[in-house]
Amino acid sequence: MFTIITGAQFGDEGKGKIVDLLSSDYDMVVRFQGGDNAGHTVVVDGVTYKLHLVPSGFLTGARILIGPGTVINPEILAKEIGILRDAGAQINPEILGIDAKTSIIMPYHIALDELREAARTEKIGTTKRGIGFAYIDKIARDEVQMADIADEARLRKRIKALAPEKKAAIEQLGGDPAAIHNEDHLSKYIEIGKMLAPYITDVSYEVNTAINEGKNVLAEGAQGTHLDVIHGTQKFVTSSCTIAGSACANIGVGPTKVDNVLAILKAYQTRVGEGPMPVELHDEVGKHLGAKGHEFGTTTGRPRRCGWIDIPLLRKSVNLNGYTGIALTKLDVLSGLSTIKLCTAYELDGNVLQYPPLLTDQVARCTPVYEEMSGWSEELDSMTQYSQLPQAAKAYVTKIEELLGVPIDIISIGPGREQTFRTK
Ligand code: IMP
Ligand code: MG
Repeated sequence: MFTIITGAQFGDEGKGKIVDLLSSDYDMVVRFQGGDNAGHTVVVDGVTYKLHLVPSGFLTGARILIGPGTVINPEILAKEIGILRDAGAQINPEILGIDAKTSIIMPYHIALDELREAARTEKIGTTKRGIGFAYIDKIARDEVQMADIADEARLRKRIKALAPEKKAAIEQLGGDPAAIHNEDHLSKYIEIGKMLAPYITDVSYEVNTAINEGKNVLAEGAQGTHLDVIHGTQKFVTSSCTIAGSACANIGVGPTKVDNVLAILKAYQTRVGEGPMPVELHDEVGKHLGAKGHEFGTTTGRPRRCGWIDIPLLRKSVNLNGYTGIALTKLDVLSGLSTIKLCTAYELDGNVLQYPPLLTDQVARCTPVYEEMSGWSEELDSMTQYSQLPQAAKAYVTKIEELLGVPIDIISIGPGREQTFRTK
């Protein structure tokens, strides 16, 4: 069985938790795009793990893989491996594999990301992790790959060839090339490269072999559908493809192998960074969602923008991903609101739209058309099955299913593993 999981909104839907939970049914979990701009929080036995690169599922004995479509900061990866080992988790080349062709985020990518963002009059609000610039180099065929940092001679040769262009780029944006591009950085990467060398593998081969042997493979996306570099709200997007089809392209598995595509969908909407968000609230409800939902970025600590669920945007998510099921997360956060609103359409220039307009600046001008439902006051976080949910919460779940035409299979009502149940 091959399942793909993607975030249906703007990231931070709770993918890490759901992947962690589902991974006990899977033999392999593969991360297919993005880098340490992503952050997921997994709570197990009361211990909180904040991770950026190591795929969720490391605790259930699944083989965890980092695919060649990702961009890896080796310092962050080495740090995470260290933290997890100290916490007693088994992280070794038997458990974790990294594709030889994974692009490496170099210090100059991070510097360029910071310098470029500072120079923009209209900011994107990137995580400043060098993600965009690492992907630029991948496409420009100027990348440094995992296989390069694992081999000192290879890395030195590669860097020598790239150095003049990188130095010029840093200088052009007003940075100091010597501070960013030096022997200290290089030797650190060489040292980490040696440590990571035993983890190198061929992810496409491993995944295809596992699927052909009848094993269960889970592909885990990072960020969310509307941060997709092709189909999202450009330019306020990340630099990779975040939608389900991207799992096939980035891992190297044919689309005929896909069995399920699961949406991770938050019961309301958040967005971190700039870009249009018609449902954004600046009122007491927005504050309620932010505070009760602990809506602060795992990677940057920035407060997330909050609002009601946005159905037009989700209709597009269903199209872009071909979802077969939904995991609805953070339903508990809506407890205590007397009225729940759903944005079921947009209004733009006097027209009512069921589906988002094509261009980002048009989305920015849309105003939400809301439908109201009754809320509920009961706290949900200690409930253990669907039948215990208040009638109003069940009605909300059913309403979303009807509006999107996709079944909600899983509901999450808190950060812990036990705070999740199936609807059937
Ligand atoms: P970048 O990915 O660092 O280039 O940032 C581009 C945009 O994507 C910014 O608006 C970020 O806030 C957003 N972004 C990147 N990664 C995540 C994530 O994991 N969750 C939510 N937003 C993200
Ligand atoms: Mg996150």
